[in-house]
Amino acid sequence: MSLLIKGARVVTAADDYVADVYVADGKVTTIGAALDIPADQVIDASDCYLLPGGVDPHTHLAFSLASTTTADDYESGTIAAAMGGTTTVVNFAQQRRGQHLRAAIDDGLAAAEGKAVIDYAQHIVITDMAAESLGEIDELVDEGVTSIKMFMAYPGELMVDDATLFQVIERAGQVGALCCIHAENGPVIDVLVRRALAQGRTNPSWHGRTRPELAEAEATHRAIALAEMADAPVYFVHLSCAEALQEVTGARDRGRPVFAETCPHYLFLDSSVYDDESFDTAKYVLTPPLRPSHHQQHLWRGLRTDDLQVVSTDHCPFCLNGQKTIGAHDFSKIPNGGPGIEHRLQLMYSGGVVAGHLSLRRMVDVFSTTPARLFGLFPRKGAIAVGSDADLVIFDPNGSTTISAETHHMKVDYSMYEGWTLRGAVRSVISAGRPVVVDGLFVGKHGAGRYLRREQSGQL
Ligand code: URP
Ligand code: ZN
Ligand code: ZN
Repeated sequence: MSLLIKGARVVTAADDYVADVYVADGKVTTIGAALDIPADQVIDASDCYLLPGGVDPHTHLAFSLASTTTADDYESGTIAAAMGGTTTVVNFAQQRRGQHLRAAIDDGLAAAEGKAVIDYAQHIVITDMAAESLGEIDELVDEGVTSIKMFMAYPGELMVDDATLFQVIERAGQVGALCCIHAENGPVIDVLVRRALAQGRTNPSWHGRTRPELAEAEATHRAIALAEMADAPVYFVHLSCAEALQEVTGARDRGRPVFAETCPHYLFLDSSVYDDESFDTAKYVLTPPLRPSHHQQHLWRGLRTDDLQVVSTDHCPFCLNGQKTIGAHDFSKIPNGGPGIEHRLQLMYSGGVVAGHLSLRRMVDVFSTTPARLFGLFPRKGAIAVGSDADLVIFDPNGSTTISAETHHMKVDYSMYEGWTLRGAVRSVISAGRPVVVDGLFVGKHGAGRYLRREQSGQL
């Protein structure tokens, strides 16, 4: 199939110019002024931006946590992603304790089979790794799984100890994989949680009150030190607060290969939601929790100055009714996570670019290009360039988007941004040269998404 996109303002992390873009057999093949090439379909994109499709490197589709599974599987999750201009997800495959890493990746592939509507890749979550099994990491890298998540929180469930962290970070660094760290001091948080529960403080607002910023900053500091001893790079997922950012900034200033992402909920929502002691607050039971609003200016500053390199969604959706209610009488049993895969671009454009926090090109960088580079997908993804995959978003800066659980495509019964009206709208989306969203309507095909074997991390 061929497409000719006419008159768009092409905006990438590096460039901003008006051009026509020709797409054939899934790739961008020609970019130029007033192209006159026969095409199966001609799309007039004047007055719109043409952006590289978003790369979301932090999603939990079909992910099991706290005895339940996320509300979105690869089908509904990737449809919602596409509707919001994301054309690649890097999802978490989860190792059960004792499971061979290869088997965990195969389980993840089976979950995606026949469902994904856009391209996808996988990270592996390591929950258990004996020194003599470290060679399993080499096998995964050979298979194109070049990033590993480890948790410093959730003792007894997902947490690994410091020895495991150190050895995995070291081995990963030697074979070109990037370790992604959930940095919170889990054992101390557990003490705070148990104390709160013993005092009868069982409602969800206590989730926010028992996970302090210093628990995140301490773990961030510790993981940076472990990575330095291992002489390996490290990437912090869902960084939420100024204290943790300061650790990352300090390490980068010392020349360490330390990277971090934040998420829209930390940029746009704050801990005042935990003032409401009703069960409704379970909507915001995600980790790390939302922080006081003064942290947001530090996160925006970090994104501008490249101390933060990525905005991911940490899409980990659980319905308020039927899933979050598992913890109706004990906030520590509420499955942690929030939905977000569908609105990252609209939030970042409206609340980031229009609000004056980020330039348009920097938004593209943190939304698409740098996640592609860090996770071994660039320049196939994250670019509009001859030879790159034709993953493209036609974004109307004069449109508007109103968010509601009534109309969103995520299979979750609430939105953290219910009723928000944002500047800008995703008009059409092309995935590997095929339209998947046209004039705001999903037209893609289940199972059309391809599994991506990734290169080694292209550290910046
Ligand atoms: O609350 C969150 N973030 N849930 C998903 C698991 C994780 O820590 O990323
Ligand atoms: Zn995490
Ligand atoms: Zn997550």
